[in-house]
Amino acid sequence: MADGTYEPLNRAARAVPLRVIEEKPAISIVGLGYVGAVSAACLSDLGHRIVGVDLDAAKVDAIAAGRSPIHEHELGDLLNRGVAEGRISAHDDLIRAVQDTDVTFVSVGTPTAPDGGCDDRYIRSAARAIGEGLALKKERHVDTYHVVVLRCSIPPGTTMAVMVPEIEKASGLLCGKDFGVCFNPEFLREGVAVADFRKPPKTVVGASDDRAARIVARIFEPVDRNPILCEIETAETVKYVDNVWHAVKVTFGNEVGRLCKPMGVDSHKVMDIFCQDTKLNLSPYYLKPGFAYGGSCLPKEVRAVRHIADSHGVDLPMIRGAMDSNDAHIAEAIRMVRETGAKRVAVLGLAFKPGTDDLRESPVLEVIAALRAEGVEVAAHDMSITPETRIAAQLSYVTHGAPGLRALAEDLPELLVARPEDAVAEADAIIVTHNHGCYRELVKSSFKPTIDLVRLFSDEMALPHVDGIGW
Ligand SMILES: NC(=O)c1ccc[n+]([C@@H]2O[C@H](COP(=O)([O-])OP(=O)(O)OC[C@H]3O[C@@H](n4cnc5c(N)ncnc54)[C@H](O)[C@@H]3O)[C@@H](O)[C@H]2O)c1
Repeated sequence: MADGTYEPLNRAARAVPLRVIEEKPAISIVGLGYVGAVSAACLSDLGHRIVGVDLDAAKVDAIAAGRSPIHEHELGDLLNRGVAEGRISAHDDLIRAVQDTDVTFVSVGTPTAPDGGCDDRYIRSAARAIGEGLALKKERHVDTYHVVVLRCSIPPGTTMAVMVPEIEKASGLLCGKDFGVCFNPEFLREGVAVADFRKPPKTVVGASDDRAARIVARIFEPVDRNPILCEIETAETVKYVDNVWHAVKVTFGNEVGRLCKPMGVDSHKVMDIFCQDTKLNLSPYYLKPGFAYGGSCLPKEVRAVRHIADSHGVDLPMIRGAMDSNDAHIAEAIRMVRETGAKRVAVLGLAFKPGTDDLRESPVLEVIAALRAEGVEVAAHDMSITPETRIAAQLSYVTHGAPGLRALAEDLPELLVARPEDAVAEADAIIVTHNHGCYRELVKSSFKPTIDLVRLFSDEMALPHVDGIGW
């Protein structure tokens, strides 16, 4: 299934007569905690018939009576109305609920396992019951394409490698043929969960097949006409990455607070101004995986902030960790080149970013220095650097980098070649740090092992001899 926006289902194109694609499919929801209870109330409010299922009798009783099992704004009113109008019921029999509905939402808990991983036992047991329900439906010749929608936060791969096999085993049916599966992460914030449901930050649907994707997209159409359709593993990863990002934001804000306080600077004023910058600060800028940061500002200023914090006795593990993480990224590039076994390497792009001849703290120089220390020969090309560029002057203060950087500063003019073809001709492997059309063409036609640090090619155009550092 290709990524893209949702197109309304073409009714005439349907191969199978499907009761499930009524305007409002009936939905069973297993797990009536925060996510399940909110989904039950809000989906009922959109006109769906809802059957809630939980092992916890208190939650089942509350939902069945139209009471909220949790404290959440508006939730009690919606559940009350859903029950009064006959759209919501609840019990503890998942097998029966599956038989009685067209779509099953799974929102059971996924607590932390003793080893720190994710405990998926509730998903497994729910999946087995869903499988049994599907088998009984099949026996009764109920001709629906039942869709199971996993909404839990889980490690990527869990939907297809854990939930689907359990359902298939228990049902004897095949995913994608007899039933569909989606992963639809929940982005609600407790306290404003109903408002978030009605106005979601985004709707993400990873699906086993187009039919399943369309059914789920249609359910959410009243609140989001443009869901993001993607592979199941992408949707699973998005949920984790979102929450890690939120944690990183909180931690960053808190470290700024601890940095500011001993200096007598108002951290809220600083962050108010920081947040007004929606071009570089609160924006997609700097967020795509690529190569290490470098240049004349970032490394120097992260170091300076760390120094200020140290001088005030303040520990800032995340800001300190940025430097360690950057070093680890450079080390990964070196490892990737080493793995090719190349004795001669072409480096395409030397400056810390394209369009400048600034070599100060350019991270690829660290890579070159390390390779040369291991006896690897390097030929380098950069669109903006010529023999006239004042290389030595730029590198004269490289005291913070790898030991080989000083020697490199002296030798770099000799490593430079005028044309990228000249660098590649004698090389066993290529490192690319700038995304130029001519570098892409060279990599494509050379068939030499290439370490791509800038995502030269999209997924569809991926070449077997090109290895990306984070893709
Ligand atoms: N709470 C949030 O704000 C939030 C937001 C987004 C995603 N999530 C994710 O959604 C999932 C559910 O979160 P939650 O906070 O609603 O969990 P919860 O612990 O509040 O509720 C889970 C419910 O599932 C029930 N359950 C477990 N196994 C069952 C089974 N086999 N049959 C019937 N019921 C069963 C439990 O009794 C419990 O009531 C988790 O993976 C969580 O990480 C939570």
